[in-house]
Amino acid sequence: MNTDTLILRRPDDWHVHLRDGDMLAAVAHYTARQFARAIVMPNLAPPITTVAAAESYRNRIRLALPEGTDFTPLMTAYLTDDSDPGEIAHGHAAGVFTAAKLYPANATTNSAHGVTDIANIRPVLERMERIGMVLCVHGEVTDTNVDIFDREAVFIERILEPLTRDFPALKIVLEHITSQQAAEFVADAGETIAATITPHHCLINRNAMFAGGLRPHAYCLPVAKRERHRIAVRAAATSGDAGFFLGTDSAPHPRGAKESDCGCAGIFNAPYALEMYASIFEEDGALDRLEGFASENGPRFYGLPLNEGTVTLQRTETKVPDVLDAGEAQIVPFLAHETLGWSVRHQSPSSSRT
Ligand code: DOR
Ligand code: ZN
Repeated sequence: MNTDTLILRRPDDWHVHLRDGDMLAAVAHYTARQFARAIVMPNLAPPITTVAAAESYRNRIRLALPEGTDFTPLMTAYLTDDSDPGEIAHGHAAGVFTAAKLYPANATTNSAHGVTDIANIRPVLERMERIGMVLCVHGEVTDTNVDIFDREAVFIERILEPLTRDFPALKIVLEHITSQQAAEFVADAGETIAATITPHHCLINRNAMFAGGLRPHAYCLPVAKRERHRIAVRAAATSGDAGFFLGTDSAPHPRGAKESDCGCAGIFNAPYALEMYASIFEEDGALDRLEGFASENGPRFYGLPLNEGTVTLQRTETKVPDVLDAGEAQIVPFLAHETLGWSVRHQSPSSSRT
């Protein structure tokens, strides 16, 4: 396909960190400019574990956006060892919790309250399976004896495979996949298993973290792997398989928190995510599959309506800035200083429904 204008059904971001306070105010509009809805991660400090906390966070997100912005935050419950099946199911029935998120304890940013043993949340998973509620999974083991580059593959073996056997009807999204093993697992699994794929895991391999020195802005979790894994993940994204869909995992941190002795994990790609995906699909000769990946596979998996309206991308260069202001802080965006081949032009008015 050779075209200068791409008109897509409005897409959604099925995995994003919008944060809170000043950072929320600084970043929410980037996501709302590109996407009609987004699955909002609950790893705030303290985490979003109750229906009341999610409702209040959802309001803060809405208030952080200019009035009239057509954007729907889809909230998630942060699962802990003490999660109550009743609270999770009630939040789902009330239209507050779209999904629940499993963070293995200490796997990543603000996951200290996560689940220490999957056995502790069996009653919650049983209930979610029964009511058809999606489980979003951070798929890494936290065993420090396991090499960090193997933690996703080992998670699939030790945790995810048994989980899918024990809960065959539970809808699971393996988030931000980074490995060939994950791409193969999801491609071979049935319709209840899906995965989100980030722009950065299609674009960089682990060398990016060490290119001429330590590069904290290429560090996220799960960490980028070897080249063959990048190729497998990217091939999954552009394959047209309905089990793979868009999730940016945009995860802003103030510049100082990344450029530090113990830099935070997270890549901020929200401002130009769609432009990046368009370049990836175009390079792989798969532009005709971008709409399925960005706008159709996700809502179908979640059982939500497709968005009305469109977003238009034009073949015009976009220069990614070196830094972006976030209140007192600065954020360094993914691919800072690089030039992308596409620009998001506008979104047509639309009624995105939940
Ligand atoms: O790199 C990451 N950053 N991975 C995660 O799982 C969490 C995220 C964050 O919240 O910063
Ligand atoms: Zn994330």
